[in-house]
Amino acid sequence: MHSQILSLAFATLAVGHGIITSPTARSAGAAMEAVCGQQVTNNLQSNEYGDIQQLIQIGSSQQDFDPASCDVSLCKGLQFDDNTANIQNFTAGQVVPIKIDLQAKHTGTANVSIVDTASNTMISKQLIYFPVYASTATDIPKNQTQFNITIPDVSSQCNTAGACVVQWWWDSRESNQTYMSCIDFSMT
Ligand SMILES: *[C@@H]1O[C@H](CO)[C@@H](O)[C@H](O)[C@H]1NC(C)=O
Ligand SMILES: *[C@@H]1O[C@H](CO)[C@@H](O)[C@H](O)[C@H]1NC(C)=O
Ligand SMILES: *[C@@H]1O[C@H](CO)[C@@H](O)[C@H](O)[C@H]1NC(C)=O
Ligand SMILES: *[C@@H]1O[C@H](CO)[C@@H](O)[C@H](O)[C@H]1NC(C)=O
Ligand SMILES: *[C@@H]1O[C@H](CO)[C@@H](O)[C@H](O)[C@H]1NC(C)=O
Repeated sequence: MHSQILSLAFATLAVGHGIITSPTARSAGAAMEAVCGQQVTNNLQSNEYGDIQQLIQIGSSQQDFDPASCDVSLCKGLQFDDNTANIQNFTAGQVVPIKIDLQAKHTGTANVSIVDTASNTMISKQLIYFPVYASTATDIPKNQTQFNITIPDVSSQCNTAGACVVQWWWDSRESNQTYMSCIDFSMT
């Protein structure tokens, strides 16, 4: 009971800040709860825009959160098994329009890359990179929230859904907040 009240309080206080809205990005579900515990999953379900530092902070007081199994540095801990209904079929050279919703600004950097989920490493060079992203000093340029990426040939590594994700990563050292959003795909 206590933990539920705590979770609601966090959900109300925390304003989330960024997510991919198209194509459909990973979201939380039962598989995440099994890996990341109840509170961290509840928090992300009620506030899917949130940052990973907040998840670590919430998780640190929870018995069912183990940072070794719930790796929030990959897709915020969101799990493939909760997202099997949203698998994109990409081809090499395909131009994919990406839409991001930013609810607040925190000056940082951002990129989109293809990440091998088993090792949590980038397997392509960055598909796009923003050296200054969501700056508090300016309006947000439209090309930071609507842009194209061109998918490289990753058919040897990414021919099975779940093996790879397209990950958008926005890191603000100014606020110590890191945001991710992931698209599941396969390339055969
Ligand atoms: C950033 O957040 C992490 C996770 O909450 C924390 O461990 C770290 O000390 C913070 N770093 C700074 C510079 O505030
Ligand atoms: C990808 O291909 C599979 C198998 O042909 C299909 O079931 C699925 O709907 C496709 N996904 C999308 C997003 O079109
Ligand atoms: C790009 O994003 C990845 C996470 O997806 C991160 O590990 C990497 O450091 C970022 N690259 C740069 C140059 O910021
Ligand atoms: C976005 O547009 C600005 C001009 O408004 C340009 O300087 C910048 O290079 C563009 N960024 C990308 C990643 O295309
Ligand atoms: C993305 O590419 C398509 C053509 O492949 C183009 O029509 C569209 O304007 C591009 N979008 C952006 C935001 O650059």
